[in-house]
Amino acid sequence: MEVVIAAPEELAALAAGTIESLLARNPEAVLGIATGSSPLGIYDDLTRRHSEGHVSFARARAFTLDEYVGLASNHPERYRNVIEKEFASRVDFAPDAVQGPDGLAEDLGAECARYEAAIVEAGGVDLQILGIGSDGHVGFNEPGSSLASRTRIKTLTEQTRLDNARFFGSHVDQVPRHCLTQGLATIMSARHVVLIAAGRAKAEAIHHLVEGPVSAMWPATILQHHPHVSVLVDPAAAGRLQLADYFRTTHAAKPEWQGL
Ligand code: GLP
Repeated sequence: MEVVIAAPEELAALAAGTIESLLARNPEAVLGIATGSSPLGIYDDLTRRHSEGHVSFARARAFTLDEYVGLASNHPERYRNVIEKEFASRVDFAPDAVQGPDGLAEDLGAECARYEAAIVEAGGVDLQILGIGSDGHVGFNEPGSSLASRTRIKTLTEQTRLDNARFFGSHVDQVPRHCLTQGLATIMSARHVVLIAAGRAKAEAIHHLVEGPVSAMWPATILQHHPHVSVLVDPAAAGRLQLADYFRTTHAAKPEWQGL
């Protein structure tokens, strides 16, 4: 696990640069993309690189992590619509190249199985962008999630519903109770995981992710078992890391050609 501590714009540029290099090597790469505010800087940076002609998504594909159950297809907070607005529509993905689990499917269990199969059929995710919840969830894998889970239906915790109420006009009762989410094992199947976090509210979750014991109570800790994880954090989110000085020294000494 590599930890980079830097200003948010620098972290977004680092992640976007890594995606640009991946697509230069493999224009048909499969990206795992996430909602939430954390990855927005990456999407802005990628959009700029795309408009300047440095990167194309025309042959790439992308899979989103999760979706609320039951939000109407035109609801602005439906994750499929959020990803379209914040990222997909701003670059040159082919129609249908970006997929997400369908929270309106009649048979939600079958939809989860279909989604898992679609990711496998695409060859698996090459690079997964992740945020992290203040309770250590990734995707919508809340504390207590099976570390071996695959895409399935989950119930959101009150903490997550409160955290996300800001996207629903601060009305927590309008935040759905259920979601479909890639499981922790699904996320672990990605070849490279890039997790980005900023702000003091994430400091405890980042401490557990990097330095805590692996536990379903802090679901992101499963990433300690992944061979290629980059954790990109601003100084506030790094505020509780005991090894912060070591991570700063290591990154400062890293040759640029090595990338993430
Ligand atoms: C939601 C999403 C997660 C995201 C988390 C943190 O719960 N399902 O994928 O990581 O929010 O969001 P933010 O980046 O806005 O703090």
